[in-house]
This record gives sequence, C-alpha cells and structure tokens, in this order.
Amino acid sequence: MTIRAVVRGVGHYLPERVVPNSEFEARVDTTDEWIRSRTGIERRHFAAEGETTSDLGAKAATRALADAGLTAGDLDAIIVATSTPDLTFPSAATMVQAKIGMTNGFAFDVQAVCAGFVFALANANALILSGQAKRILVIGAETFSRILDFSDRTTCVLFGDGAGAVLLEAADGTGTSDDRGILAADLNSDGSYRDLLYVDGGPSTTGTAGHLRMQGNQVFRHAVEKLAQTAHAALDKAGLTGGDVDWIVPHQANLRIISATANRMQVPMERVVVTVQDHGNTSAASIPLAMSVGKERGQIKTGDLIVTEAIGGGLSWGAVVLRW
Ligand code: UT7
Repeated sequence: MTIRAVVRGVGHYLPERVVPNSEFEARVDTTDEWIRSRTGIERRHFAAEGETTSDLGAKAATRALADAGLTAGDLDAIIVATSTPDLTFPSAATMVQAKIGMTNGFAFDVQAVCAGFVFALANANALILSGQAKRILVIGAETFSRILDFSDRTTCVLFGDGAGAVLLEAADGTGTSDDRGILAADLNSDGSYRDLLYVDGGPSTTGTAGHLRMQGNQVFRHAVEKLAQTAHAALDKAGLTGGDVDWIVPHQANLRIISATANRMQVPMERVVVTVQDHGNTSAASIPLAMSVGKERGQIKTGDLIVTEAIGGGLSWGAVVLRW
C-alpha cells in the first residue's frame, strides 16, 4: 500500500481593492494596451493599508477548511509559501496558525519566490509520506504591492496581492498513476542567476524591505525553456506524458509564457487554467489562487490530472503532478 497526499479542500482570498491597468497610466509611462498585449494582465488586487500577508493567508485558510469540512484543530501543520511575510520573523505561517485558532501542530514558511507554492507542495508531500503529518494546509500568500517601485514601469504593472490554500490529507493509494494525490515533483534552483530577479533590500544588507528588481526579458527567456523542461521531468517521474494532462495550472506571470509552455507540452490552451488577467502576478499565491478559481469555475474536477509549474527569483523552478 502507498500513502498519497490528496487534496481535501481548497480556498482563496483576494483583497477588495481592484486596480485596473488604467491606474498605472497616470503614474508611469505605460498604457493599458501595452500591459494587456505584453502580459495578458487587465487588473490586479492590492491589499488595504494594514492588511497583511497573514491576514490574506488566514482568510484563504478558513475557506479551504470550510471546503474540506474540517476545523483548525484537525490540522497537523501549516506551510506558507511567501516572499512578503508580515515581519522578518516569526513566520507568516505561525501568524496564520494563531489567526485561525490552531494551537497544536507546527507551522513554517517556505521562500522560493514565485516557485514557492510548488516547493511548499513538494515539502508537504514529503512530510505526509514520511508520516510526520496527516493533514497539512499549504498556503501561498503575498502582498507584492508592498515591495514594488511605483516609479519603475517595467515591474510595477506586473504584480498583485492575494492568497490561496490547499488542504492535503494522507490517504491510501495503490502506487499507480491512477491514484488521487501528489504523484511526482521536480524541483530546481540555480543561484548564479540572482541578479535577474531580486529585491534590493533585506535584514542583513540594508535593514529595509527593499524593492523588486527584474530583468524581465531575461527571466522570460529562462521561463519559456525551464517550465516545459520541469513539467516534462515531473510527468516522466509519474510515468505520464502531456497527453495525459487534464489541466495545467501554471504560475500566472505572463500569458505569453503560459501559452508558450502549454505549446511545448503539446497541451491546448483549453486545458490551461488562466487567471493572470484578473490577478496579475501574485508570486507564490498564483497557483493555489488559480486552483481554487479553476475549481469554482467547474474546470477542475475530482480525478483530473493536474500539472502545476512555476519559476521565480533564485532562479528557482519546479513542477508537481497530482490527481485532484
Ligand atoms: O513571476 C516571476 C517570473 N517573472 C516573470 O515570469 C516575468 C517574465 N518577463 C515578462 O513577463 C516580460 O519580459 C515583461 C512583461 C516583463 C516585459 O515584456 P517584454 O516583451 O520582455 O519587454 P522588454 O522587457 O523586452 O521591453 C520592451 C520595451 C522596452 O522599451 P525599449 O527599450 O524597447 O524602448 C521597455 O522599456 O517595452 C518597454 N516597457 C514598457 N512600455 C510600456 C517595459 N515595461 C513597460 C510598460 N509600459 N509597463
């Protein structure tokens, strides 16, 4: 018998304030047309003053628990993938833990920038397979609006705030790719690409939070190549191919990257969950947000084979194959 980490519930939360592309026309030299045509983004949500990453994460967590029909006391662990925690420490995960009233178990953050949720899913899977935990809430939560340089048109138009949560639970499987749950993961990093995407501040350098800096076209080039590579590697490990995929749930950074990756995987765009038009790039939150929205839309159903892939600062990139 094989243990599998199976999705039992999912939920998301987006801050109330919706920011259309037109708002940036007044701030920097850009146009709605440029943003739409180069990225697919039409709008994004920004957190209210005083609304933090753990606030967004706790709201998504509460919705995922309700979807699963469980309460905070049923959880063994919380993992939050984020690069924009409320404070340098403690972790956003322990803050979510307190906000949802969970007093048992353990909680920690994973920081792999936009690939954070994929890394968190793989870690949660390993904890479940090793018997460390039976139920883990895996959250992606970000307030990237707080680290944007609103005078830099090449980055400030791209990002948004939000949170998504997926509740994983240990279940018996047969050991075949017909099982529900996480079937394979592929994780990669190459720190020599640090300067392509980074934040120019931090506790041990400037003592400030800093602002996001990106050489967008360089990251774009790596994304198109590495995302299809890692998705294929994860599918290979599961003994599956692109033809078996019901839904790609990609990191939502740029519609052109999403479609180029789907094309390389020979999966038609009708089988890709796309939310970038409404959310912008929410970094580690983008995949669980897209999973939750995809389920709400009736796209993702029990038994569907999902491939999720992401790349971000580091560079770090990876993919997870799971049957919903
Ligand atoms: O989630 C983490 C991973 N991040 C990503 O996946 C992002 C990857 N990169 C991208 O999505 C794209 O590279 C961008 C959307 C960031 C940029 O698109 P691009 O087609 O690669 O454009 P570019 O950077 O090559 O810039 C083309 C032109 C430049 O002008 P010149 O030098 O040709 O005169 C930019 O200055 O577009 C200009 N530009 C803008 N123009 C109007 C850059 N940003 C803007 C803007 N409005 N907001």
